[in-house]
Amino acid sequence: MAKVEWDDSLSVNIGLVDEQHKALIARINDLSDAVEQCLGQAEIAKTLDYLVDYTDFHFSTEIQHMMELEYPDLERHRRFHGEFVNTLNGLVEDFEEDGATEPLSEAINTFLVNWLINHIKTVDVEFGRFLGEKGITIDSE
Ligand SMILES: [Fe+2]
Repeated sequence: MAKVEWDDSLSVNIGLVDEQHKALIARINDLSDAVEQCLGQAEIAKTLDYLVDYTDFHFSTEIQHMMELEYPDLERHRRFHGEFVNTLNGLVEDFEEDGATEPLSEAINTFLVNWLINHIKTVDVEFGRFLGEKGITIDSE
């Protein structure tokens, strides 16, 4: 299975957000590996937990900065995040009920990856442009 790799085409020109996207992609890859290698329920549950936690942390970071800067598209952005979180929670429920099934690993490899790439390239990038126009930079710590 091809891994998602962060490259410059995924940069949104916000240092902090780029770093967090790399970490998020790493966690999706870890989950995908754990499922494919049939690492066992406990191990898969752990990678799924890490992904859920990091997603929450990352989305909160973005929204926090958007609030501080009175980003006009904040509400729409928040809604997109909400959709992803709902689907991710659905995957967690499926996993808890049925374990690491084929459809689950399909969903991870298609939905999570496609959503994230698409969101970064179409929606997050707009926030980067907004910051660029204002001459604001947010560096990674
Ligand atoms: Fe976002």
